[in-house]
Amino acid sequence: MTEERSVPDFAHFWEQFKRYPLRDKVIAALGVMRWALRLYKFDSREPFIIERKVQVLKWKGGIIEVGRGARWAMGSKIVVGGHLRFGSRAILGPHSTLMCATEVSIGDRCMFAWNVSIFDSIGHRLWMERVGEVEVEAPITIGNDVWVGPYSIIMKGVTIGNNVVIGAGSVVRRDVPPNSLVYGNPARLAGKVERWER
Ligand SMILES: CC(C)(COP(=O)(O)OP(=O)(O)OC[C@H]1O[C@@H](n2cnc3c(N)ncnc32)[C@H](O)[C@@H]1OP(=O)(O)O)[C@@H](O)C(=O)NCCC(=O)NCCS
Repeated sequence: MTEERSVPDFAHFWEQFKRYPLRDKVIAALGVMRWALRLYKFDSREPFIIERKVQVLKWKGGIIEVGRGARWAMGSKIVVGGHLRFGSRAILGPHSTLMCATEVSIGDRCMFAWNVSIFDSIGHRLWMERVGEVEVEAPITIGNDVWVGPYSIIMKGVTIGNNVVIGAGSVVRRDVPPNSLVYGNPARLAGKVERWER
């Protein structure tokens, strides 16, 4: 005899929910609120992980697209007024700061260690003698499989190729070609990368 299996409807889950102890009800309600908040804040629908104490500020007109399986680690800050693309399975390390005023594009499987800063704007208008007004903001493009060491800073207008390693404490102000190792302040080419492992 074949038994027809019906899909439980909303009423079924509601009846189950009503039987939960209060503590579980609060946890479930918070989970639903968090999910709803994400739908409102993010322009992509892929599942990804946001750890504790992550601050996400999205200004009017900002777009945030995050790939499947990405992770924003605890204490990181993300401020978006432009268009942020964060690749799938990419990791933003603990206490890192990502500011996007124009366009910041981060490839898949990138790994940012702790206390990394990425910002595409100097934040204020600045005039220099003989030079005149300094460019305030310019997009940042980071390729796939880029590994950035702790306390590194990636600034406006920089393009970083695929498969790049950036040493700890580097200040990246110029483009980095693919498959290269750079470090220092300012970050300089120090070798060729064959591959690295997560
Ligand atoms: C980039 C890195 C991997 C290079 O390691 P390496 O190939 O073993 O390099 P070495 O330690 O042999 O150093 C070679 C030279 O570069 C210098 N150097 C290496 N890393 C440097 C860095 N981050 N900043 C400035 N100089 C650096 C060394 O002082 C050395 O200089 P010298 O030849 O004048 O003595 C490493 O230095 C680094 O930054 N490690 C941090 C990794 C990390 O962030 N881990 C966190 C986990 S996410």
